[in-house]
Amino acid sequence: MSKTTISTLQKSKLAGDKFSVLTAYDATFAHLASEAGVDVLLVGDSLGMVLQGSSSTVPVTLEDMCYHTQAVSRGNQGALIMSDLPFMSYATPEQAMASAAALMQAGAEMVKMEGGGWLVDTVEMLSERGVPVCTHLGLTPQYVHKFGGYKVQGREDNAAKQMIKDAKAMEAAGADIILLECVPSPLAKAVTEAVNVPVIGIGAGPDTDGQVLVCYDMLGMNSGRVPRFVKNFLVEGRNVQQAFAAFDQAVKNGDFPQAEHGFEA
Ligand code: KIV
Repeated sequence: MSKTTISTLQKSKLAGDKFSVLTAYDATFAHLASEAGVDVLLVGDSLGMVLQGSSSTVPVTLEDMCYHTQAVSRGNQGALIMSDLPFMSYATPEQAMASAAALMQAGAEMVKMEGGGWLVDTVEMLSERGVPVCTHLGLTPQYVHKFGGYKVQGREDNAAKQMIKDAKAMEAAGADIILLECVPSPLAKAVTEAVNVPVIGIGAGPDTDGQVLVCYDMLGMNSGRVPRFVKNFLVEGRNVQQAFAAFDQAVKNGDFPQAEHGFEA
């Protein structure tokens, strides 16, 4: 089985080929998703909500992230493993370096952080020291209490311009991937065109280079309200691995997401 690396994803962007990303939190799901062809496994701090039952990702610890990253890395069959740095584990560049080292030693091949311009020094330091970085813009769930809820971001002109500026600043600082969550589809398209690094979207329309969903969501396993950007791929006649393969194919064929899964400006 071939190995997905940052170079693979950069080549995909250049060629105009889409790539697929799913969250994974354990060895079995990691095995099934990577064997199904999913390119990137995101050990997301969404595990605080879907596994631990918290109402946000804020309570997730670095220890939790290392534990689940180790499990995913044992099951993985060639996908790139990206792991979230949890809330307040990267408040300073020095803290980010220590936290990123722990995640990389647990099996991560890239770390993800939420935030814009204030992360420039941190991204530079990590990147210079050999840590691939993804920066998460738009609806950054660790900011839920600051945002006052889970809301689409970048609808106002100023906020949209700032997001494009932040994405460019992240790229210049050395970020390898940008992830956009819950932003209007036209803005996600503009960000994707403004940077040379691959852009992954969730609730960001069809024009980003890659698409990510939380694995439980796309298997129809939700305990609350289902966000509009989710599609259930575990339909009758499919097992879990076939659902993962159907997601991968739908992303690569451009069948997912459709306009109905995105947000207008
Ligand atoms: O933690 C997570 O699963 C994420 C995705 C929603 C992008 O950050």
